[in-house]
Amino acid sequence: MSKRYTITAALPYTNGPIHIGHLAGVYVPGDIYARYKRLTGNDVAFICGSDEHGVPITIKAKKEGVSPQEIVDRYHKIIKDSFVDFGITFDNYSRTSAKIHHDTASQFFKTLYDKNEFVEEVSEQLYDAEANQFLADRFVVGTCPKCGNEESYGDQCEKCGTSHNATDLINPKSAITGNIPTLKETKHWFLPLNKHEQFLKEWILKGHKKDWKSNVYGQCKSWLDDGLRPRAVTRDLDWGIPVPVPGGEGKVLYVWFDAPIGYISATKEWAAREGKDWEPYWKDQDTKLVHFIGKDNIVFHCIIFPAMLKAEGSYILPDNVPANEFLNLEGNKLSTSKNWAVWLPDYLKDFPNKQDVLRYALTANAPETKDNDFTWNDFQARNNNELVAIFGNFINRVVVLTNKYYNGLVPTPSDFSTIDQETLAAIKAYPSVMESALERYRFREASQELMNLARLGNKYLADEEPWKLVKIDEVRTKTIMFIALQIASALATLSEPFLPFTSTKLKGILNSDANKWEDISTKDILISANHQIGKGELLFSKIEDTEIQAQLDKLEASKKTNEAAKKVVEPQKETINFDDFTKLDIRVGTILEAEKMPKAKKLLVLKVDTGIDVRTIVSGIAESFTAEEVVGKKVTVLVNLAPRALRGVESQGMILMTETPEGKLVFVNPDDANVTNGLHIS
Ligand code: 2FM
Ligand code: ZN
Repeated sequence: MSKRYTITAALPYTNGPIHIGHLAGVYVPGDIYARYKRLTGNDVAFICGSDEHGVPITIKAKKEGVSPQEIVDRYHKIIKDSFVDFGITFDNYSRTSAKIHHDTASQFFKTLYDKNEFVEEVSEQLYDAEANQFLADRFVVGTCPKCGNEESYGDQCEKCGTSHNATDLINPKSAITGNIPTLKETKHWFLPLNKHEQFLKEWILKGHKKDWKSNVYGQCKSWLDDGLRPRAVTRDLDWGIPVPVPGGEGKVLYVWFDAPIGYISATKEWAAREGKDWEPYWKDQDTKLVHFIGKDNIVFHCIIFPAMLKAEGSYILPDNVPANEFLNLEGNKLSTSKNWAVWLPDYLKDFPNKQDVLRYALTANAPETKDNDFTWNDFQARNNNELVAIFGNFINRVVVLTNKYYNGLVPTPSDFSTIDQETLAAIKAYPSVMESALERYRFREASQELMNLARLGNKYLADEEPWKLVKIDEVRTKTIMFIALQIASALATLSEPFLPFTSTKLKGILNSDANKWEDISTKDILISANHQIGKGELLFSKIEDTEIQAQLDKLEASKKTNEAAKKVVEPQKETINFDDFTKLDIRVGTILEAEKMPKAKKLLVLKVDTGIDVRTIVSGIAESFTAEEVVGKKVTVLVNLAPRALRGVESQGMILMTETPEGKLVFVNPDDANVTNGLHIS
């Protein structure tokens, strides 16, 4: 039965392009679901847009010395275009700087204000006097009161997912100046989540939400068990939607208050364009509202936004929030700032016409129940061993043989053998097996069932061997090819949500896109005898090792840049006077002997001829130099340093060393003119 679906995908922050983490967690599963729901005859609004407010955008703008508007205009276009190129079929991709969104969010706030749903309170908030700025959200970092993560933001800890107030942070520090903030009074409007706690408990814990994914249900339960507190929904910032009530001058709505309302404004914008009524998509109890998000957004979509919708009073609440876990890349956490990511625009450039390969690799390895790792080798294997060797190979054999034997005309079958009947019955079972996975938001499982159908095709051909039979039994060969063509036709339809570009290509090759999803299980014939199919065209091509190596090299380059950036240049030490300096007795010495200090990773025990005497010096250079390579070396020695025992050996002086800008330890060497930042003795 046809149903109305409002499917939302988290609005991406507009401060950088989309990367594979976003795709795997939110946009690919969201798109598979939306395509599947459309294909099964439902009324779907698949909604997204750019999240253009909030501190990350302001920070990026400050860093680049441009206006926040310039940043969001740039990335809105990049993000929107890359979604289109990647085949993400949003019915509307809007943006929160749009007038319709400012009006909708303002109105929403006013309604809650008029209904006395806010608590207005003057309280002390963190303030950076030097930056003349209140420190909310990402403007402040400190220790998470829940898990001890030292890099928690003011509104959320990305490590444990807890959402808190900035004043809850332990040892807060301004992200702008590094200063320790002071407290300053300011007025804000708070959403009293505690007032909605009982309702949320009934709705999530006692209601029917037990079928939510266990990671989502578990997080909700833990927040509800901890007890909810009022949350400020306004901020002292100048980038955002102005607070539209008396006393709100100079303040804006908290980005997490306005962003989810963006789903509603984007739906309104789409409905107006399509000549539809937007309200049933948000207010009709029969509509199924589903939010696709990453796990860091769970509290906002399962607790705060539902509380806002409930307080407003006329909206439906989400039916499900199938949040995914995180995707890592080659064993490390994805990171925008460290450029540890595969960016969608780069992928589209490096692998033109291979959108489906990434869609498939991300789905087959989706972080549905736990964090997962994307590796370029797995990506290559998914392509070469599954898409090329199974799916592509099957279709290629069917199309080539049909053209070769019958000039592309689907042959007329004769009697079906038991194996034929079983194969036809097996095709019919695929839609419901895949539906069962898709309805449980198990996209990974569904994608594997699709591949199993292609496997079935390959096995059928391998068992029946039409290429051998054609010489001795033309009648039987025709039946075999007819059945194989039915499988190819089923694949063309069932692959649409997962491999949309391939599905279109395959329908073109088969010269038929007549089947709907349900036809695969109800129709006896999916592609009729005498139907003319087209010429062969390869659906997938092998990805070579060199292409994979190029991607790995890119990541290696990011790693090197990060390591160099991580190296902090030590600040200059306190000034000393000339008298202090002249106390140092520095001589040129020669290392006569060297040996590694047992059980000490860093220490070499040296015998050094100082010109005055031969003495023992223990030096912490063993991680950079071997004993053998330093013997005979001329070195600069501080000879009047008070002796001290290191691991039981008395060290009678110090070999002078310094570091190059790259962090390499080098001798302050009397013979080496290359050391420019070493010690100068004149
Ligand atoms: O985490 C994020 O990237 C947010 N921009 C998601 C917002 S989702 C929604 F509520 F708008
Ligand atoms: Zn934490």
